[in-house]
Amino acid sequence: MKIGCAVIGASGYTGVELIKILLRHEFFEITYFADSSGEERIERLYPAFRGVFEGKTERIDVDQIAKSCELAFLALPHTRSMEVVPKLLDRGVKVVDLSADYRLTLKNYEKNYVKHTDPHNIQRAVYGLPELYREKIKGADLAANPGCYPTAAILALAPFAKHFDKNMPVFVDAKSGVSGAGKKCSTNTHFVKINENVFPYSPVVHRHAAEISQKLGELTEKEFELTFVPHLLPVTRGMLVDCYFGLQKDLDPLELLYDFYSKERFIRIVDSPPDVKSVAGTHFCDIFAMRNGSSVYICAAIDNLLRGASSSAVANANLMFDIEEGHALSEIAYIP
Ligand SMILES: NC(=O)c1ccc[n+]([C@@H]2O[C@H](COP(=O)([O-])OP(=O)(O)OC[C@H]3O[C@@H](n4cnc5c(N)ncnc54)[C@H](OP(=O)(O)O)[C@@H]3O)[C@@H](O)[C@H]2O)c1
Repeated sequence: MKIGCAVIGASGYTGVELIKILLRHEFFEITYFADSSGEERIERLYPAFRGVFEGKTERIDVDQIAKSCELAFLALPHTRSMEVVPKLLDRGVKVVDLSADYRLTLKNYEKNYVKHTDPHNIQRAVYGLPELYREKIKGADLAANPGCYPTAAILALAPFAKHFDKNMPVFVDAKSGVSGAGKKCSTNTHFVKINENVFPYSPVVHRHAAEISQKLGELTEKEFELTFVPHLLPVTRGMLVDCYFGLQKDLDPLELLYDFYSKERFIRIVDSPPDVKSVAGTHFCDIFAMRNGSSVYICAAIDNLLRGASSSAVANANLMFDIEEGHALSEIAYIP
């Protein structure tokens, strides 16, 4: 008997990726899927599902979800998740939330987003980055899936937490494919703006800076200052994060990365700079490092929709249900 699960936000980009992964999952089965209309035929919206996965979405009904599901993936915009999470937890449904609603401390969340309506459950949430918090995720009933930029940046920088030169700034210069912004078109994601173009957006003040700083601050046990500049790339999926910082100690960064991630199946330390195409369609994070005197350059590449969202969500759910972490996750990139 499979474990029933809900995909809430099934008509969105990360929701669709969740469906694709869950269709090949041996232990989870989609028994409920919802969007805001409650009347979208998924195969009409995404004809790629024709003959494979068809059906009409529901509206969010927590009692119905609890009847058929032990687990819910929330692929909802921030603020929408915190309306639903407490009701699902009260009904005994475990949750993996892809939004930002449970990733930050209350203070940090309210500074960067809006007033939180479910502060109580922030404490209960475990940050869903298995390489750093695997044991805690196993015992969690609420996993806060990391943001896409934070996933790549934290995986790149965490191994150096004890070695940053406090007198030198840390820069993260990041690039994302347009699907990172979700399915709704905006001025920045309009074809005419993004085609044959690259540009920064929300430099320095982007909300993911707060998430990266908070997590690295926890690891370094002091306030972590970061200059973060995201850019949009004219590609559909993929994320590349370039990090620059100073070292307080003489060490080989590539060697440190190899050691830190030696047991991690989904981290590949690479000896030449990674690229987004080599990880697109997979759960891998490829990381490269190079030293220039006392400065270090690290580059990490992920698929923003998978390692940066949906495959991480399934990895977290696997851990929460005592299933092998990598079960149903993809390892071969879309080639050519
Ligand atoms: N895209 C990425 O690369 C990425 C990476 C990491 C994290 N995330 C996070 O993951 C979440 C989902 O992102 P996305 O890119 O998949 O967004 P999206 O493409 O805009 O999809 C959002 C989904 O939420 C549904 N929704 C919105 N309000 C709802 C409501 N009141 N009731 C039921 N369904 C509702 C939408 O339904 P309708 O279609 O009916 O509006 C849609 O299915 C966001 O919090 C985002 O920040 C995204």
